Amino acid sequence: MTAPTIAAAPGGLPVLGHALRLLNEPLEFFESLREHGDIVRIKLGPQSAYVLNSAELVRGVLVARHRQFNKGAAIEGGRDLLGYGLISSEGDMHRRQRLMMQPAFHRERIAEYSEIMREQIVERTGAWRNGQTVDVRAEMSALTLAVTAKTLISSDVGNDLVEEMQHSMPRLFELLYQRLVTPLPALNKLPLPRNREYSAILTRLHPMIDKVIADYRSVDTPRNDLLGMLMQAQDESGNMLSDQEIHDQVASILVAGTETTAATLAFVFHLLTEHPDIEARLHAEVDEVLGGRPAEYADASRLTYTAQVISEALRYYPPAWILTRVAIEDVDLDGHLIPKGASVIFSPYIVLRDPRLFQDPGKFDPDRWGRERIAEIPREAMVHFGAGPRKCIGDVFAVVEATLALATMAAGWRLVAAPGAVLEMVAATTLTPRNLFLTLEKRRS
Ligand code: HEM
Repeated sequence: MTAPTIAAAPGGLPVLGHALRLLNEPLEFFESLREHGDIVRIKLGPQSAYVLNSAELVRGVLVARHRQFNKGAAIEGGRDLLGYGLISSEGDMHRRQRLMMQPAFHRERIAEYSEIMREQIVERTGAWRNGQTVDVRAEMSALTLAVTAKTLISSDVGNDLVEEMQHSMPRLFELLYQRLVTPLPALNKLPLPRNREYSAILTRLHPMIDKVIADYRSVDTPRNDLLGMLMQAQDESGNMLSDQEIHDQVASILVAGTETTAATLAFVFHLLTEHPDIEARLHAEVDEVLGGRPAEYADASRLTYTAQVISEALRYYPPAWILTRVAIEDVDLDGHLIPKGASVIFSPYIVLRDPRLFQDPGKFDPDRWGRERIAEIPREAMVHFGAGPRKCIGDVFAVVEATLALATMAAGWRLVAAPGAVLEMVAATTLTPRNLFLTLEKRRS
C-alpha cells in the first residue's frame, strides 16, 4: 500500500517559507491550513514541518507514539532559563522527575495549597477600587504569579524572587518566545540587545532561586509547601532530587504555571462582557454558594457553573495554543510517514474549534460542559492541557485556582468594558489578550 500524500501548504515565500505567516498571523494561518487536510506540510526556512489538524493525529503523537517524539531543538532556546526541569527534560530523566513530582500535585495537596490561593486572591482584590480601570491581563498575571510563587515558597525568603518575577515576567516571556521560534538558533547566542537583556534577567533570577533553596536546606523541619514537597520527593531507590534539579523545577513551575492561568482568567472576564446572560448566571451561582464571602476549596464542588465557564474559556481561547514535537525516528502516523528529525506542530486552538468534535464551535457556550452534554465531547478533543505522559502536571492546580479566583471576584465585582479599549489577541508563548482594559464595578457594599 502506498502512503497517502501529504498536502503542501500554499503561499510559502522563497527562503522563509511560511515562517512570517506563523509569526505575524498565527491563528489565521493555522485556521487556513485546516482546509488542506488533517496533515499539511509547511516550510519554516529551509526545514519542512508537519501541521496536524485532527485530534486523532495529535493524540497519536502525544499518547500512542509519544516515545517516538521529543521536544527537539526548539526547547534549547529556553534551556538557560528552564535547565532540565520537567518541561524541558526528555526520556528517562523526564519519567523519573515526573514520578517524583506527581505527589506534590495530587488533589489532596491542591486542597492544602488552596488556602494560599484564597489568601492571595483576597489580598489582590482587596486593593481594587470601585470605578478603577485595570489592565486585566497584567492584573491576573500579578495574581497568578503571587499564587504560584507563594504555593511553591510559602516562607518570606521567596519575597525577593517574587518581586523580581513580577517585575521581569512580561518581558521574560516575550524574549523567551523570540528564542523558541527563531528560525536560526545561532542568533540566540549572539551579543544582540535582546540576548543581553535576557541574560541580565537570568543573572538576577537564578541566584535568587539558589538562595531560597539554600535557606530551605538550612531549616530542619520540612516546610509543607510545594518546594518542601519537592525537597522530600524520592524515587523508588530512595534517591532525591539534587539542588540543581530542584532549581530547574522552580523555574519551570514559575514559567509554566503563571501566564497560562492568568490568560484563562483574563479571557473569562472578556467573554463575560460579551455575554451578559452568562455573567448573570455566574453571579446567581456565586451569590447562592458564597453569599459574598471569598471562595474556598470546599465550595468548588458547588461552583459547577463557574467551572463550566472556565472549561469553556479554556476551549475557546486555549492559552497553550501551540505545541511542537520532533520525530526521533521515522514514524508511521496513521499511514503518513513523518521522517526522522522532522517537526510536527499542532494547535489545541484548532482541535478545540473542530466542528467534527464540537457542535457550533464558534459559540461560547459553557452549557456544553454541563452534566447533560459533557458526554458528547470526545476524549481526544480535550487537549487544552495536552495529553499523555507530558500532560500538564498542574491541570488540577490551575482549575482550582481559576475557579476560586473567578468565584471570589465575581461575588464582589463586575468587570465592565472600558470605552475605547480595543482588545488584541497575542499568540506567542501563550495565547493571551492585550489591551483588555476593564472597569471595576462593585456589586455589593
Ligand atoms: C490554564 C492553565 C494551564 C494550561 C492551559 C496549561 C497547559 C499545559 C500544556 C498544554 C502542557 C503540555 C505541554 C506539551 O505537551 O508540550 C503543560 C505542561 C506543563 N505544565 Fe501546564 N498549564 C496550565 C497551568 C499550569 C500550572 C498552574 C502549573 C504548575 C503549577 C503547570 C505546570 C506545568 C508543567 C511543569 C508542565 C510540564 C509537564 C511535563 O512535561 O511533564 N501548568 N501545561
